[in-house]
Amino acid sequence: MNMMNNETLDGLRARYEAFKARGLKLDMSRGKPDAAQLELSRPMLDLRDGFLSEDGTDTRNYGDPLGIPEARRLFGALLGVDPAQVIVGGSASLNLIFDALTRAVLHGPLPGDTPWGKLPGAKILCPVPGYDWHFGMCDTLGLEVVPVPTYDDGPDMDMIESLVRDPAVKGMICVPMYGNPSGVTYSDETVDRLARMDTAAPDFRIIWDNAYCAHHLYPEAERRDHLKNMYAACAAAGHEDRVLMFTSTSKMTFAGGGVSSMAASPRNIARQAALMTYQLVCYDKVNQLRHARFLPDLAAVEAHMMKHAAIIRPKFELVLEVLERELSGLARWSKPRGGYFICFYAPKGCAKRIVQLCAEAGVTLTPAGSPYPHGYDPDDSVIRIAPTYPPLEELRQVMELFPLAVKIAAMEMRN
Ligand SMILES: Cc1ncc(COP(=O)(O)O)c(C=O)c1O
Repeated sequence: MNMMNNETLDGLRARYEAFKARGLKLDMSRGKPDAAQLELSRPMLDLRDGFLSEDGTDTRNYGDPLGIPEARRLFGALLGVDPAQVIVGGSASLNLIFDALTRAVLHGPLPGDTPWGKLPGAKILCPVPGYDWHFGMCDTLGLEVVPVPTYDDGPDMDMIESLVRDPAVKGMICVPMYGNPSGVTYSDETVDRLARMDTAAPDFRIIWDNAYCAHHLYPEAERRDHLKNMYAACAAAGHEDRVLMFTSTSKMTFAGGGVSSMAASPRNIARQAALMTYQLVCYDKVNQLRHARFLPDLAAVEAHMMKHAAIIRPKFELVLEVLERELSGLARWSKPRGGYFICFYAPKGCAKRIVQLCAEAGVTLTPAGSPYPHGYDPDDSVIRIAPTYPPLEELRQVMELFPLAVKIAAMEMRN
């Protein structure tokens, strides 16, 4: 344990006040790409060789409501399914997820299923720490969120297998790879247990938000996580309809200006397509075409994502190095091999105070508690660190402040 050996609270506070006097204003609250990452995709905007997709559709006109063929092929490859089982959407996978859940609430997942909204207290399992947008959308749709702890290999499967014996438990929403913010990737065994488990609700659905499916930090296969194909696992277990998988290019090209997708069984896709009919004529296919030409296959995605990795890897390494040097023994944190976040576990009862100290010194972090439903972290411990957005020099300054804030909060707790 190397923390606070010779450090007094007064000494830490003096350093903290000196930092505060610099008058910085830095926002680390969201996991956003930095400007250099966005520049990587600028060539995509030069769509020069016509607007026809490979099936001859003029992408500037209505048509192809489920997406142009080349975009369906790209996302089929990313998510590991046949392109016919893919719907390519607009610029937000969250929108596709929200729509799929809304359809389950209003109509039921498949024809003949009771709409979840007609049942008293439909529940959705949410592994924690998790993504605040997932909790918020369940709340918005009147679905009760049930938190489940996450371990190194995924959510607590014993707990999940027991909870799904309740027919009111209708589904689960999760980030299975490089989790936001846990950094955890589900093990093969976790994937298989989720695929195989008996659920009391026959229309149980897993919302598999694979937002970080291609977001590795390192080129070497042995320094990456590998996620088993959930659709294949469900199909092999005889539960082909169980999973709805999602991803987008938000963290590949433009955040909020990318292309999203959903993949699922033929029955699920037919259901979603039918219920989409009067929602829109088609999504933005010019954007789909730009993307499919820029990232025509997995090799192109890989090459492009390694350019992103080269920009953000030093930021992750910097944060991890400072945490190791300053805080080992006092706290723990994830050491993710991809994704957008480092998950910091402060001493119990300190997270809110740390975030407050950082804010008062000019650094906005994600609010403590936000990786938990209703913003309630029972241990007041988890802080989501999002290192990607600030330039390296600014991040260096943040990492001068953060350990000070942690040590001050921990000492105040003890006193
Ligand atoms: C797990 C997860 N899902 C979805 C999103 C947002 O994706 P999109 O821009 O495709 O809606 C994010 C963004 O941070 C995320 O972390």
